[in-house]
Amino acid sequence: MDANNIEEIVRKILSDMKGGSVSAPKASGPIPEKARVAMLVEKERFEIQEYKIPEVGDGDILVKVEGCGVCGTDAHEFKRDPFGLIPVVLGHEGTGEIVKMGKDVKFDSAGKPLAVGDKVVTCMIFGDEPEITMFDLNKQNVGKADVYGLIKHDGDNYFTGWFGDYILIKKGSSVFNVSDLDLDSRILIEPCAVLVHAVERAKTTGILRFNSRVVVQGCGPIGLICIAVLRTMGIENIVAVDGNEQRLAFAKRMGAEKSVDFRNYKGAEALGEAVHEVFGGHYADFGFQCTGNPVAHANIYKMIRKGGGLCELGFFINGGDATINPHFDLCAKEITLVGSWVYTLRDYATTFDFLKRAQGIGLPIKELITHRFPLDKINDALKTNLAMQGLKIAIINN
Ligand SMILES: NC(=O)c1ccc[n+]([C@@H]2O[C@H](COP(=O)([O-])OP(=O)(O)OC[C@H]3O[C@@H](n4cnc5c(N)ncnc54)[C@H](O)[C@@H]3O)[C@@H](O)[C@H]2O)c1
Ligand SMILES: [Zn+2]
Repeated sequence: MDANNIEEIVRKILSDMKGGSVSAPKASGPIPEKARVAMLVEKERFEIQEYKIPEVGDGDILVKVEGCGVCGTDAHEFKRDPFGLIPVVLGHEGTGEIVKMGKDVKFDSAGKPLAVGDKVVTCMIFGDEPEITMFDLNKQNVGKADVYGLIKHDGDNYFTGWFGDYILIKKGSSVFNVSDLDLDSRILIEPCAVLVHAVERAKTTGILRFNSRVVVQGCGPIGLICIAVLRTMGIENIVAVDGNEQRLAFAKRMGAEKSVDFRNYKGAEALGEAVHEVFGGHYADFGFQCTGNPVAHANIYKMIRKGGGLCELGFFINGGDATINPHFDLCAKEITLVGSWVYTLRDYATTFDFLKRAQGIGLPIKELITHRFPLDKINDALKTNLAMQGLKIAIINN
């Protein structure tokens, strides 16, 4: 048994004691000259390509990738190239271990020290706006910033997305030391930040309280994480609405008290009454709309009480128009409506603690990752995502 073996065993025992899953082993050994990336070379086809790992500048960080989630945005780009990025290395929900750092790198974007061996995630690239700090971004979402995995290669640096063996984090990017989170949790940070932001937006209405009755419509990953965030805040009276039995069952494990299968009701009014009934004769104080279906947007008003609130976050991209009745749905009920899109850097940092709290109270948050593929099976991973199988699909490097 050599020293490496012993270190590995000790790490596993410590990790098991903490109850977390075992992270990928520390990146050991020399950095190779060349490494792989998954290049999307045409619609619906990634090719594994090898490139020279570029020089690490004084402000840069080279990270050995451990894993990366597949996002709906990746699936859109894979299928249709709506952002015109091909050829591109995708992957923005990634995490890995620092293997090399420039001499100027000392701290992460939240002020935590950084060292070789630390586990990190990225959020935004500020490019020519280095003056922006995470605190300025408290109120702004990241609509204008670039994100690794959604940018074109940078000269002969192809390590610009997390679907590869390495990623080069350039000076001016946000980076967070998340060494205290296990691999699965780190992969889930990005989608969870969407819900931390949505709940922050919901709180601005002043309607969400500990004892609020909350309806969460849509139980895909977004709705399920929404329920988890609400639970970690101490909100318990949650009703989940979806048309998929397995997802509704998972919603209950994630903390929803009751569920409603919309397929059992004809029309918005009947669905609203069903929600009213499961809340014991009350409409919801607050609703989170987590489907990308415009009909569902129209339906949710019928579930909310007079003076209640609604956070619409289901339309990351244009899903078409919805028909509501402005008199009945908004004015007469005095609904307070907020929209939510992406997150702020501050929400990102909040998300790390959310993930620990969620696991601390026993929510099955890591079970959101239902499928794991190695990098060279990335085409299968994206096809699995497009076939709407499972919940979160991840690429895991070994
Ligand atoms: N605001 C943001 O920044 C942001 C970020 C990421 C994703 N999103 C959006 O969130 C939405 C949900 O994402 P996801 O990954 O969970 O998607 P998903 O497709 O996995 O889940 C959507 C769920 O809604 C359910 N559904 C569909 N129509 C319904 C209806 N009429 N009533 C009730 N339930 C219905 C489906 O059965 C499904 O379980 C997407 O449309 C996505 O664009 C928004
Ligand atoms: Zn994403």
